Amino acid sequence: MTESFVLNTGARIPSVGLGVWQIQPDAVGNAIYAAVKAGYRHIDCAAAYSNEKEVGLALKKLFEDGVVKREDIFVTSKLWSTNHAPEDVPEAIGTTLKDLQLDYLDLYLIHGPFRIKKGTTMSPENLIPTDIPATWGAMEKLYDSGKARAIGVSNFTCKKLEDLFAIARVHPAVNQVECHPVWQQDKLRKLCQLKGVHLSAFSPLGSPGVNGPSVLNNPIVISVAEKLQKTPAQVALRWGIQMGQSVLPKSANEARIKENIDIFDWSIPEDLMAKFSEIKQVAESRICS
Ligand code: A2P
Repeated sequence: MTESFVLNTGARIPSVGLGVWQIQPDAVGNAIYAAVKAGYRHIDCAAAYSNEKEVGLALKKLFEDGVVKREDIFVTSKLWSTNHAPEDVPEAIGTTLKDLQLDYLDLYLIHGPFRIKKGTTMSPENLIPTDIPATWGAMEKLYDSGKARAIGVSNFTCKKLEDLFAIARVHPAVNQVECHPVWQQDKLRKLCQLKGVHLSAFSPLGSPGVNGPSVLNNPIVISVAEKLQKTPAQVALRWGIQMGQSVLPKSANEARIKENIDIFDWSIPEDLMAKFSEIKQVAESRICS
């Protein structure tokens, strides 16, 4: 098992990335510094996480301290839903690049297949019709310009991906979705594999901090962890990379940050991997609409 996957651009995406969603701005710098020192080479950011300036300061310090070079780290960010208008897309990536203190992103994603009126926040009355082909056209221009070395989407269902394939000049490189042993996304994974789209998993632990589905307490995950003498979190993450997806666990805690990347000198044998298909799935009907 390698520590990275190859995207359809030819670039490599490291198989474990630090998810910075819900890390407070005053904590994200330490988390990133600890993660990179522990071996992470992939940071998953978004304008909507409201901490990109602090991420940028941490990256700058890591580069200045010589811990890592820009070209050795894979940085993702996402276009928020208020900026879907094609004319707003260049400004949105401009702000992100300025905040992150970078001159390119390794990956830029449309954060979600829904659009919100500019200058408003996410609530049902602020949703307006999407025009994904127009937004994707603007994303393709960013790819052409080199500001985004790969482009993709997030939270896209099978149907929405198929619609995108039908109009895309630049094929999406990644679909980032919630994925873990309790929401395995089988149908979406198969479509992504067939179409050469890399699946990247956010909330790969099931977001235990925000009442997500219980991955770490799942009896099958626990029994596999006990057999392998690993933690349930490590088993959930290792399952993800053995399924072929990159995993983006969020942690602001140095010990857990280290635990979550300590998954490369062992693997889940085939008979125990097979056990995961017995896990009852949540949200089956939401998987592929
Ligand atoms: P913390 O930041 O205190 O470590 P997900 O990535 O699925 O959204 O899950 C993130 C949540 O899981 C956070 O609440 C995080 O808390 C917690 N978490 C991260 N790593 C581990 C781990 N190895 N064991 C248990 N909980 C973890």
